[in-house]
Amino acid sequence: MQIILGITGGIAAYKSAELARLLVNQGHRVRCILTEAGSRFITPLTLTSLTGEPCYGANPDQGEWRANPGVEHIELARWADLVAVVPATANILGKAANGLASDLLSTVLLATRAPVLWAPAMNTGMWEHPAVQANLQRLRSFGHAVVEPGEGVLACGEEGAGKLADVAAIAEAIQVHGTPKLASLAGRRVLITAGPTREDLDPVRTLTNRSTGSMGIELARAFRDAGAQVRLVLGGDLPSPWGVETMRVRSAQQMLEACTAHWADSDGLVAAAAVADQRPEASSSEKVKKADGTETLALVRTPDILATLAANRRSDQWVVGFAAESEKHLEHAGDKLRRKGLDAVLVNDVQAGRGFGAQVNTLTPLTVQGPHPALGPLPKDQLARAVVQWWAGRLEAGKG
Ligand SMILES: Cc1cc2nc3c(=O)[nH]c(=O)nc-3n(C[C@H](O)[C@H](O)[C@H](O)COP(=O)(O)O)c2cc1C
Repeated sequence: MQIILGITGGIAAYKSAELARLLVNQGHRVRCILTEAGSRFITPLTLTSLTGEPCYGANPDQGEWRANPGVEHIELARWADLVAVVPATANILGKAANGLASDLLSTVLLATRAPVLWAPAMNTGMWEHPAVQANLQRLRSFGHAVVEPGEGVLACGEEGAGKLADVAAIAEAIQVHGTPKLASLAGRRVLITAGPTREDLDPVRTLTNRSTGSMGIELARAFRDAGAQVRLVLGGDLPSPWGVETMRVRSAQQMLEACTAHWADSDGLVAAAAVADQRPEASSSEKVKKADGTETLALVRTPDILATLAANRRSDQWVVGFAAESEKHLEHAGDKLRRKGLDAVLVNDVQAGRGFGAQVNTLTPLTVQGPHPALGPLPKDQLARAVVQWWAGRLEAGKG
């Protein structure tokens, strides 16, 4: 994405440097526009160095408006795929809500047709003032997104609402707001399972697998960005993505219960979790003492979550499963597809170094029509977006 990052005159302006760097690392192009007040808090030199792009607006050397053969504010407005103002002062919110264009940033905000996102930061009294809230309401009515500030100790010493939201959360919100929505997924409720399950033997020992949950989490992000309302049932320790309702679970039984509770009001399921097939027959509340010689652990089957949900689905619900196979991939996955009555299976080759825990992965979609061209090898975030595009295309064509 090509992102204009507007930076206005608040203490939190120093955090915009961190955000610019994060966005660039995520592969975006970022051009900063500083207001005159913003330039008192952070310098164009810092922002240009971090982004590798010119910094626009108030500039101690060149002033607000540069002599330029083009019309800078219109060129910037057209260049942007998204305009984010971080931090946003009460002043810029008021100007933008009322169509004022008194400097480069406010003029670009008025001229652009790109999506706009605000991350306000200010003193609690300012934040709670009806004028600021009315301005935000107005900006929302234009289709702008607002990443609300959090609560905490503010730079002015007061404690309350007005602290700039986490930079990582703002970066996620930018991703969501700047991604075009897909008609077959927008507003749809998608249930996603991710991560390993853990079956406890006692308070210190557990049976689990090498899944981290990263593929399922990236899928949750990609479905969210495409406009779906995502609910994620998550095992493992990875943090849940912003903007996704997450239910944390430990065992296969807990995962089944969380999924069952949400299945009836979901439009589709993506089962990416690596569910333990077995659990210890007995689980002890006390640490089990070691014994000499060979010991035998009795295992029993855990519930088959995917089969249970697929068997209890309505005709308007779709189900996509994963098959992690280390040999005869398509044969085993095809068997799973038919046996469990799935719409598609994404086949994951988990031979050494691939699949679980790896950064780059390949998935081969399989439907009753047979295998489809492989997606990848790609980093998991890009692979997740490719999966969502592929699946949305099938839903649109009525083949979901
Ligand atoms: C030290 C200092 C900190 C400030 N922090 C904020 C702030 O966090 N939020 C805010 O809305 N205004 C803050 N202001 C006031 C703005 O800088 C002022 O309203 C300015 O006109 C904003 O201009 P701009 O929106 O064009 O950047 C602060 C002012 C000073 C001097």
